[in-house]
Amino acid sequence: MCGIIGVTGAADALDILLDGLERLEYRGYDSAGIALIDNQEIYRVRVADGTHSVATLRSSTANAPSVASTGIGHTRWATHGKPNEGNAHPHVDCAGHLALIHNGIIENYQELATTLVGQGHTIISATDTEVLAHLIEECLKSAATLPEAVRAALTMVRGAFAIGVIELSDPELIVAARKISPLIVGISGDASFLASDIPALLERTRDLMVIEDDQIVELRPGSIVVSDLDGKVVTPKPLHVMWDVEAAQKDGFDDFMTKEINEQPRVIADTLRGRITDQGAIILDQLNLSDDVLRSITNVTIVACGSSYHSGLVAKLAIERAARVAVEVDIASEYRYRDPVVSATTLVIGISQSGETIDTLQALRKAKALGGHVVVVSNVVDSSMAREADGVLYTRAGPEISVASTKAVVAQMVVLELFALHFATLRGTMTPDNVAQEISDLVGLEDAVATTLARDPAVAAVAKELIDARDFFFLGRHAGFPTALEGALKLKEISYLHAEGYAGGELKHGPLAVIEPGCIVVAIATGGEMREKILSNVSEVKARGATVVMLAEDGDSNAASLADYLLLVPATSPIVSPIKDIVPLQQLAYHLAVARGLDVDRPRNLAKTVTVE
Ligand code: AGP
Repeated sequence: MCGIIGVTGAADALDILLDGLERLEYRGYDSAGIALIDNQEIYRVRVADGTHSVATLRSSTANAPSVASTGIGHTRWATHGKPNEGNAHPHVDCAGHLALIHNGIIENYQELATTLVGQGHTIISATDTEVLAHLIEECLKSAATLPEAVRAALTMVRGAFAIGVIELSDPELIVAARKISPLIVGISGDASFLASDIPALLERTRDLMVIEDDQIVELRPGSIVVSDLDGKVVTPKPLHVMWDVEAAQKDGFDDFMTKEINEQPRVIADTLRGRITDQGAIILDQLNLSDDVLRSITNVTIVACGSSYHSGLVAKLAIERAARVAVEVDIASEYRYRDPVVSATTLVIGISQSGETIDTLQALRKAKALGGHVVVVSNVVDSSMAREADGVLYTRAGPEISVASTKAVVAQMVVLELFALHFATLRGTMTPDNVAQEISDLVGLEDAVATTLARDPAVAAVAKELIDARDFFFLGRHAGFPTALEGALKLKEISYLHAEGYAGGELKHGPLAVIEPGCIVVAIATGGEMREKILSNVSEVKARGATVVMLAEDGDSNAASLADYLLLVPATSPIVSPIKDIVPLQQLAYHLAVARGLDVDRPRNLAKTVTVE
């Protein structure tokens, strides 16, 4: 998740880039940079100053060449390589004649880097992006023009990208290209623009064109030519934007929470991207634990807070089932003050969107001091936890702005399922066929979640019926239990309603006493053999007057017949079902909060990152 912008043919090119980057900071803000073509040289400035990166870039470019009219800019949310100046974009080739910005993930960057180094290129940064600059430089040796070289280079690239490239020999030209990652272009007078997102260009033009996958764009002052990979000129789809900047930053959604919920199919794909080879092998390159160490592990402890703790409960099921290693999951604020048993064969996994939550950080420090191997699941590259851990599994959700975590939780579950399969493969506890089947279940989640998202109106209708309800019990068993906990937490934190998550089997051990008419029971009746037991629990609560919202899979007529309200999700393997089942519960919490007139992005009393006890 990075923001890109480019302009050619504008006397105030630098201002356009800086203003655009300011409006793109919600996409990433660990570093920022620009490159301008000036008098046969590339003028490049990059800074890494966290949330101040664009402001610092503005002051650092005070002496930029004032006549430059062609340039590119980038604001970064790191996925590969630390968020430092050296990894900030634009990246340049060996000769320093070409500069490039990129949003996306290049899957085969290591392979490409090896070949390029063999051809004499020097790669300086730790990013997946820099190889593109060198690859295009290499292709320019045989191509007549920059567009030809970009076209040739992209045939060798696997992954997702939106790029912008400038080069000294044709100083008014920007070549851009897209595969999967978004790219829009537009013209205003003599100036032509490109950007990853609408907010970057709104001040300059509202008439944009949407670039599709596998298209290459040549931007010159006042002219834009789009062609396909074969060089055939195509007409891009026009887009007239009515939104203001704030609405555009939210992708036209009313708030960041809806935007983030709707990003989940993309987040699943990005979190898996490049981590499964064509042969089906799993690559977790920053895990930093040798195969021998992983094989020697005798027990796993997971520590986390809030929603990340719920991801840990899902991971426990996955690791125990797949790798046959005992897993305990602890709330980090409890773990850090108890006397845990940790040995040299204990793997401690910390899960944290921010990588900064103080209790999780302290719990991991304790585990490390006691001699355990520490791995962190973090959404922020080089977060405090990522820096201190032995290894990292990065989620690739992009910045999560809404306080209620949605896309980051889904990404955590995905990367931990993948880790469980990797662990199982090393330990020989699953057959290659079973691993392949479960990888394909994970990959299939992108579509299952997209289908679920499209059913939002049905969830909104259920929420409307429940507007007067005050007490919610979420019941689940096995994989449905963490889902129930997370569904209840989402509802609680943004709607301020009383909500509790329970394991269905616990119902008769206390909670059943409070069930009476007016209570809403949300039953997670998806997935596997525990479904029937949940349906028995549902009969019990219905007999006591509760209203039942049933979360069930398509075609489950038994579950449907017991429901007062039905939330349907596509059928998937029970193993991955929490990853899709949480989606309608996010939507339910959202619609109830909105119906109650609450600010879903900034719930009262809560902070996005809890860095104090
Ligand atoms: C989730 O919606 C919450 N806002 C909260 O529970 C959050 O998951 C928790 O504070 C942990 O944060 P972290 O993942 O950044 O460590």
